Amino acid sequence: MCGIVGYVGARDARDVVVAGLKRLEYRGYDSAGVALAAEDRIEWRKRAGKIANLEAAVAEQPLPEAGTAIGHTRWATHGPPTDANSHPHVAGRIAVVHNGIIENHGALKARFDVDFASDTDSEVAAHLLRREVEAGSTLVDAMRAVVADLQGAFTLVALDAEDPDRIVAARRSSPLVVGRGEDEFFIASDVAAFIEYTRDAIELGEDQIVEVTSAGIEVTDFDGAPAETRDFRIDWDLAAAEKQGYDWFMRKEIFEQPKAVADTLLGRRGERGELQLDELHIRPEELRRVSKIIIVACGTAFYAGLVAKYAIEHWVRVACEVELASEFRYRDPIVDANTLVVAVSQSGETADTLMAIRHAREQGARVIAICNTNGATIPRESDAVIYTHAGPEIGVASTKGFTTQLVACYLLGLYLAQVRGMKYGDEIEAILTELERMPGYMSDMLEKADDVYGLAERLKDRESMLFLGRHVGYPSALEGALKLKELAYIHAEGFAAGELKHGPIALVTDGIPIFVVVPPAGRDQLRDKVIANIAEVHARGARTIVLAEERDAEARENAEAFFALPNVSTLLQPLVAIIPLQLFACEMATLLGYDVDQPRNLAKSVTVE
Ligand code: M6R
Repeated sequence: MCGIVGYVGARDARDVVVAGLKRLEYRGYDSAGVALAAEDRIEWRKRAGKIANLEAAVAEQPLPEAGTAIGHTRWATHGPPTDANSHPHVAGRIAVVHNGIIENHGALKARFDVDFASDTDSEVAAHLLRREVEAGSTLVDAMRAVVADLQGAFTLVALDAEDPDRIVAARRSSPLVVGRGEDEFFIASDVAAFIEYTRDAIELGEDQIVEVTSAGIEVTDFDGAPAETRDFRIDWDLAAAEKQGYDWFMRKEIFEQPKAVADTLLGRRGERGELQLDELHIRPEELRRVSKIIIVACGTAFYAGLVAKYAIEHWVRVACEVELASEFRYRDPIVDANTLVVAVSQSGETADTLMAIRHAREQGARVIAICNTNGATIPRESDAVIYTHAGPEIGVASTKGFTTQLVACYLLGLYLAQVRGMKYGDEIEAILTELERMPGYMSDMLEKADDVYGLAERLKDRESMLFLGRHVGYPSALEGALKLKELAYIHAEGFAAGELKHGPIALVTDGIPIFVVVPPAGRDQLRDKVIANIAEVHARGARTIVLAEERDAEARENAEAFFALPNVSTLLQPLVAIIPLQLFACEMATLLGYDVDQPRNLAKSVTVE
């Protein structure tokens, strides 16, 4: 939700901030704005809609040159996406941008006898800061006083017209990183905002305030004591954050999957070829004591978790639950010191998942994060982390995020099996070797993109589609349906094929497209039942699109379209089965004229509950 950028240095801050906002637009695209200080007053422009509207406003009425500026791209929570509700919010000499929700904004607003210019929860922060600085506080002291009064989650970034070369930012349960250049600093919700200027970044901790000038930064906690930060080097470059000739980031990210998966697997073997997870700083004895695993995640990451359950229970023989993070802490889950909670999150900032792990840790559980974003809040608040190293995922729909999460889950499952003696070394070696072959198989699947696009063309007038699968094909079906609904706004449902006769078959009407993921032939019973399901829906007039092994002649019999999958183990099949489903959703949304990277009402990282 919402992207924040700030800059202090010798460059033209207007350009740096607007360019940074464009790179963060995936975080929210309801409105955008920029503010700077000039001649002892705040100047700002803001507009509802995408950043192009802000650029038009700036072109129409240029901002004065400045070396310091702040900016914001919004995903609306309080108040509709209008110019007035856009950030920055300005109160006298103060300009503020905010990400998160100030839960007690009503009570705080009641302290002021002013007409608020917006319906937002954020504007009150500008008034609170103004009151403090007008009473004589420095901006940093004002920020410290204000955050003490705020309830909720927030990143706040403020600028004072009477101290124009400084910005001050505070963070609680909401992302904020600092980019370090030569005599210049950047602050942002995500490193993508400043990747073209520097790859050196500083991770801020929870409840910290950073004061930024071109001379340096000073980080303190909310009480004013010096605070510890962590420096890190961003392991991808500007090219990774650009479309590189693709029409959509999503399409580019789908095609990046073979490399992303290879990168997730990189460096996971020790000298003798055994599996090692260097980042996993949890002692083997502790992992041996684990009596239950709970995976918490949202959306696509939740579906990756569903696949992981099949693998972990099969390999490790420990009960593994998968829970929507948004439900987890509200149902009084049974968690103790022998519970291992695995939080799966591409962004590492999803508020529901973050709250779930905080709850789990309070109950004494150990938490492992599976995450793609270095320094994000979820890995920072976990006991250990497995990074997926997929590079930035900018399309709102998760694609390489999903497949690399799957790989990290498989690695974790195998590692637990190794540590707990549930598998012999050669068994683990065989699975690792197969995993290492997956990038090649995924590339083969991507070569069939044109066939998928042809199918999308044929089905583009359909208003409803179903997705069926069994075993790990079931989460694949759910993920295929999610992709289609979030991008093409087509009604799409995923079902466990075995459930068909318990209700969903009533949805089968003449001509409805049904995608069916067929388990590998090695799983005879399961496969036979899914083949029977294909016949059943075909007999009722469905147009069946079948994803099955190339050698599976029977699966082709009732298929209007057939996508051949390589011959891989059942548990690993989602890595290849998902590719046609991702390509289909991307192409369908393109054909229907929708913005694939910025689907309506969505934002990339959901940092509010
Ligand atoms: O960053 P996370 O992996 O925690 O995000 C979880 C979901 O919000 C995310 O997967 C969402 O469902 C995507 N839009 C799906 O494409």
